[in-house]
Amino acid sequence: MNILLTGGAGYIGSHTAVVLSEAGHEVVVLDNFCNSKKSVLTSLQQILGKELICIDGDIRNTPLVIKILKDHQINAVIHFAGLKAVGESVQMPIEYYANNAQGTISLLEAMKSTGVKALVFSSSATVYGDPQYLPIDENHPTSATNPYGRSKLHIEEMLKDVAISDAEWKIICLRYFNPVGAHDSGLIREDPQGIPNNLMPFILKVIAGDLPVLNVYGKDYPTIDGTGVRDYIHVMDLAEGHLAALLFLSNRYGWHVINLGTGVGHSVLEMIHASEEGSGKKINFQFAPRRPGDIASCYADVKKANQDLAWVATRTLQEMCLYRPVKK
Ligand code: NAD
Ligand code: UFG
Repeated sequence: MNILLTGGAGYIGSHTAVVLSEAGHEVVVLDNFCNSKKSVLTSLQQILGKELICIDGDIRNTPLVIKILKDHQINAVIHFAGLKAVGESVQMPIEYYANNAQGTISLLEAMKSTGVKALVFSSSATVYGDPQYLPIDENHPTSATNPYGRSKLHIEEMLKDVAISDAEWKIICLRYFNPVGAHDSGLIREDPQGIPNNLMPFILKVIAGDLPVLNVYGKDYPTIDGTGVRDYIHVMDLAEGHLAALLFLSNRYGWHVINLGTGVGHSVLEMIHASEEGSGKKINFQFAPRRPGDIASCYADVKKANQDLAWVATRTLQEMCLYRPVKK
């Protein structure tokens, strides 16, 4: 199949590009590089032994998206493009709604006008808000506490309406838990600008000596050791989940929602210890007050993914926390 990856130069998109290409699909990337570097394309070429088609452009440029869908005879779209920093979304809600929600509308308009009606959407466990029960299944009530999460919820609602409006649409919404880790080559990875907000990129910078100390936010949560628990999933498992989702969509119409996680939660201290083992280095950390808006525990019920997608995350915590120095 010919597959368009919006945001395909980003962290999850680039790993998915590898998995899809290796499975024999033709991958076309559309990215405006607002949160990724063009050097990712060279790395992808090194991994795959061939050049990927990449268009430097914005999903909000509807005529451009229409042209790409036509020129490359696209069969399905995986929609990664978006802004994703929770704190930033509180400061810049207009930019978040413009990029995430308006960007998705532009993409949908382009898809409708060209008759490309198969879509995989990158959603997030953030749409479950503060969990009412664990593990979280897809029927758990949704809510949002910040503009980023609300933009994901708005998009989900829009996509559901689109799928209801026309029986030819096939749309799957994947709710990711916490993606971590990198491709074995070490050539592609999560590479945030500045000081990372998320745990694993922060830990990697402490290991590399770029940051002096990790703040562990909260030590009095009702969890195994008092620190926050999350469902960390290896990004290559997540990438393979997209391949499974495309296969699923080949013969399913309508709207589908599926969690992608491991079903197992790990605490911040467990992640620190696994990263110490994975790097052979001691990680300097200190306890700090709880981070506003954080929840104690969050992990997925993955039965639906296992059954409907015939997909299961197989990589271990050790593999997620393996340290690969940046290749210059
Ligand atoms: P990322 O920032 O690494 O990748 C997103 C890519 O989209 C970037 O390359 C960026 O340049 C591009 N982009 C952004 N706006 C664009 C636009 N208007 N037009 C074209 N390209 C644009 O993020 P990621 O971690 O790979 O996340 C991918 C998707 O998964 C996002 O939608 C994110 O909200 C969602 N998600 C991520 C996580 C996570 O923890 N990484 C968790 C849940 C959901
Ligand atoms: N944490 C620290 N120190 C840090 C960063 C994080 O102790 O410097 C802790 C947090 O308090 C939390 C855990 O590590 O207990 C995980 O935090 P992350 O920021 O890595 O991940 P979150 O689960 O808070 O949120 C992330 C994304 C959300 C997304 C969610 C689920 O930021 O947008 O995963 O996919 F919705």
